[in-house]
Amino acid sequence: MSDKPLQDFNRFSSEKLRISDASVQYSTSQAEILALDHVTFEVDFGDTVGIAGESGCGKSTLAWTIMRGLPENARLLDGRILLGSVDIYAIQEREMNSKIRWKEIAMIPQSAMNTFDPVFTIQDQLVETIRIHSDVRRRRQSVGQRNCSSS
Ligand SMILES: Nc1ncnc2c1ncn2[C@@H]1O[C@H](COP(=O)(O)OP(=O)(O)OP(=O)(O)O)[C@@H](O)[C@H]1O
Ligand SMILES: [Mg+2]
Repeated sequence: MSDKPLQDFNRFSSEKLRISDASVQYSTSQAEILALDHVTFEVDFGDTVGIAGESGCGKSTLAWTIMRGLPENARLLDGRILLGSVDIYAIQEREMNSKIRWKEIAMIPQSAMNTFDPVFTIQDQLVETIRIHSDVRRRRQSVGQRNCSSS
C-alpha cells in the first residue's frame, strides 16, 4: 500500500466507480476460497446496478471489497477499485476513512436492523454514528437532539 497522500481531493460523488479485474481470496485453516474471480464493471454517476446470484457467490465480498473493508483473512489478489482517478487501495487508510468510506462510498450491511443495540435509544445510536463519521460540532449535535426530542 502506498503512503502517497490523497492530494487533489474534492468530492467524488459525481465520479465513475470502476471495479477492474478484482479477485479476492479468503484464507482459512481448511482452504483458500476464491470469492471474486476477475470481476469487472463500472457504475456511472446516477446509475443503479443490481448484483444477483446464489448464496455464497460473492455479493457481500464484492461490496466489502469496494468499501476496502474486507476481513483480515481476505486479500485483494488482483485488480483495482477506482473512484474517478483515485485507486482506493493505493491511498492511506486514514484518508480512506476520513474522506471516502461512508462518505462517498457507503453500504447498508446485510441484517442491518440487527446492528441496532436494544440497550441504547435509536437517537443515541444515530448521534454516535454522526459524531464518528462527520465533523459536526457538539453544539450542532445538541440542536439535532433537541429537534429529535421535540418531534
Ligand atoms: N470471512 C470469511 N472467511 C472465509 N470465507 C468467507 C468469508 N466470508 C465469505 N466467505 C466465503 O466467500 C464466498 C462468498 O461469500 P459472500 O458472503 O460474499 O457471498 P454472498 O453472495 O454475499 O452470499 P449471501 O447471498 O448468502 O449473502 C463463500 O464461499 C463464503 O463461504
Ligand atoms: Mg451476502
